[in-house]
Amino acid sequence: MYVSMKDMLLHAHKNQYAVMAINCVNMEQAKAIIQSAEEERSAVIINISPRQMKAHGHGDILAPMIKGMAKKVSVPVAFNLDHGADLEDITNAMKFGFSSVMIDSSSYEFEENVRRTQLVASLAHGMGLSCEAELGHVGMAKDADNEKADLYTDPQQAKEFVERTKCDCLAVAIGTAHGSYPKGFVPKLDFERLKLLKETLDMPLVLHGGSGAGEENIKKAVACGINKINVCTDLFKHARIATAKTLEENPEIDYMDLCIAAQNAMKDFIKDYMRVIGSSGRYDFEKYQGPELD
Ligand code: 13P
Repeated sequence: MYVSMKDMLLHAHKNQYAVMAINCVNMEQAKAIIQSAEEERSAVIINISPRQMKAHGHGDILAPMIKGMAKKVSVPVAFNLDHGADLEDITNAMKFGFSSVMIDSSSYEFEENVRRTQLVASLAHGMGLSCEAELGHVGMAKDADNEKADLYTDPQQAKEFVERTKCDCLAVAIGTAHGSYPKGFVPKLDFERLKLLKETLDMPLVLHGGSGAGEENIKKAVACGINKINVCTDLFKHARIATAKTLEENPEIDYMDLCIAAQNAMKDFIKDYMRVIGSSGRYDFEKYQGPELD
């Protein structure tokens, strides 16, 4: 079923687990994600950023395809604009049929972030869509932004931010970053801050930079209140490695079979991750409670 992130993440918040939000640029990835969710009886979120849309699969093509696939399964699937930067990105995503939008104004001063998020949240809610925002700033692993504690989210400021903007979930900076960390490096997360954020906000919290963060960290982050984990780099890596290995073993392989090999490798990765973060099996006996989108 095709839904917004709102009720899906509230369920995760109330039942202390997290849902994967996986970046996707084509049909093979969309199939891998949705089939994994159905087989695991798990909710899932499909993410795409404006940069990825420019580089590869555009939202006006992907949205109807993902919506069509989502409507054929019985688990909740959301399609979310990841890191929407300006109003044009956001209104286009709404027009294309996304079920959720993220407004990322985390590089702006607090008041400007509030102003931009307020506007997007009210537009999204008016259309029955959900809105994710970011406070503090989750930067890039290549720049070691994960270690810059001045970028981390302040709980009291976050409380004011959420009250004023009415965003449905909040991406927090607690020590992860986007992209690949140096080989062998595992980031150190600020769990005390995360616990305080959860206690203060009592709402769904989002962790960006879910690749390479380490299984123990991920499990503990979920136990301390994370309900949505964004994963991109590791999924793309699994597809690339499977493609290279399959080609090496069989250089004459049919192109469709090559795509399917990558799809199957992505499914193995996604299903394992869903088990780690506790979303697997949630819809074995339970029916989704929120509204479906047309
Ligand atoms: P990674 O590429 O580090 O998994 O981060 C993904 C992300 O946070 C997308 O918003």
